[in-house]
Amino acid sequence: MTVLTGAGVSAASGVPTFRGADGLWKNFRPETLATPQAFARDPRLVWEWYDWRRQKIAACESNAAHHVLAKWGARFPNFKLITQNVDGLHERAAASAKANASLSSAAVIRLHGSIWEVLCWRPCAMSPPRWRDETVPYREIPPRCMHCGDLIRPGVVWFGEGLDPDVVYRATQAADCDVFITVGTSALVYPAAGFLDIARRGGAFTVEINPDLTPATATVDLALRGPAETILPELDRQLAHL
Ligand code: APR
Repeated sequence: MTVLTGAGVSAASGVPTFRGADGLWKNFRPETLATPQAFARDPRLVWEWYDWRRQKIAACESNAAHHVLAKWGARFPNFKLITQNVDGLHERAAASAKANASLSSAAVIRLHGSIWEVLCWRPCAMSPPRWRDETVPYREIPPRCMHCGDLIRPGVVWFGEGLDPDVVYRATQAADCDVFITVGTSALVYPAAGFLDIARRGGAFTVEINPDLTPATATVDLALRGPAETILPELDRQLAHL
């Protein structure tokens, strides 16, 4: 089983989605905040936004949807989780479920990076390719590279940037599965939205969980209309009887 998640899976935790009624892109312009050009133009503005998002996410908890997926990491031997989310709530749910053996970090394929990782903007020779930084809030905006003093940037994939080829390869491998479930994504952003098609062409039974219609709804074998934090626990209860 492979599951692809988007911002909708974190909505119940209080993390804003991107294109929902009160989504980030309703209030902010992606081209001024989430591109390398925007960062080069005004790193302070971009970091003020990412620092605000980090503070917001740090105050959120994983929800029932994250916890069921963490649990499935143990239940299904070949379980893979492909996520577009940079919030780290899947990993947090997995960490909190450690006792019951759950989703290993190897099974989480992060397509768009992590808001809790940073890298040197230059990048300088002394710094690792990327490193974890959970500072909330930053005292100095924009924050600086501890190795060279130049700027650091958020460890997320911005519009116009390519995804890590190794990550795309792992996600493509994961799409070769028996059951592919897409949860809480508007299915508008590629290559993420393309993995459902790969899975279907490979013969997988495909499912969408979303309260709203998306371009994927008409293409899946089963569309479950409702919030992830309700439908995934119900699915988990029913699976428990099998
Ligand atoms: N449960 C399930 N789905 C939900 C819920 C919920 N509780 N609440 C909202 N949704 C659905 C919405 O109906 C919408 O289809 O989640 C989807 C969220 O869509 P977007 O906001 O577009 O987020 P996403 O699909 O993850 O965006 C993809 O775009 O902005 C970039 O890099 C960013 O990773 C992001 C990518």
